[in-house]
Amino acid sequence: MSTEGVTEVVVDRMREADVPHVVAIDRSGEGSSAWDEAQLRGELGRNWAHLWVARRSEVPVAFVATWHVADELHVLNVATHAQHRRRGHARRLLEHALAFAAERAVRLVLLEVRRSNAAAIGLYRAFGFVAMGVRERYYSDDEDAVEMLLRLDEAGRPVPSVDEVTL
Ligand SMILES: CC(C)(COP(=O)(O)OP(=O)(O)OC[C@H]1O[C@@H](n2cnc3c(N)ncnc32)[C@H](O)[C@@H]1OP(=O)(O)O)[C@@H](O)C(=O)NCCC(=O)NCCS
Repeated sequence: MSTEGVTEVVVDRMREADVPHVVAIDRSGEGSSAWDEAQLRGELGRNWAHLWVARRSEVPVAFVATWHVADELHVLNVATHAQHRRRGHARRLLEHALAFAAERAVRLVLLEVRRSNAAAIGLYRAFGFVAMGVRERYYSDDEDAVEMLLRLDEAGRPVPSVDEVTL
């Protein structure tokens, strides 16, 4: 039986001590971005990077990495440990990132996702992201990237939009 429902999960800033856990999350299943510890530490050192983890009993089970640049938030990566998926962790983290975006008067939230990544595309669509472009053979294995976008109004609320490309 899963105890996840009764064990508190909290969203928190990613810290240096989280780095090995976050790399393990990233490598735990399909969809790894192959970030290594050095890359993550580099991100933690950038003052425009904002990274959060979902902690369960203090241990990170999911993370999201973003860059805040002017009025844009770029979602670089979001992942949940393969043993903890479909329990709302990625949703919770994206809600947190979007609340941060609203506080900072962000108007555009942007990301790229593999065309075959139905789980992530489903997650993003649940927040109102739409497909605005395709970068052909963007990834090193020649898979296309889908560029997705969420517009926020001046109050930080999602602006309903429609796909600009057909997936
Ligand atoms: C994509 C990913 C982050 C989702 O994490 P998660 O914690 O399992 O997602 P959540 O439980 O918060 O799901 C929230 C919603 O996203 C959508 N979703 C999540 N997984 C899905 C799946 N396998 N298929 C379809 N929709 C899915 C659903 O709308 C879901 O809501 P529901 O469970 O009420 O139906 C996770 O599958 C993962 O880590 N994948 C590997 C890394 C990756 O591909 N990251 C994206 C990089 S761009």
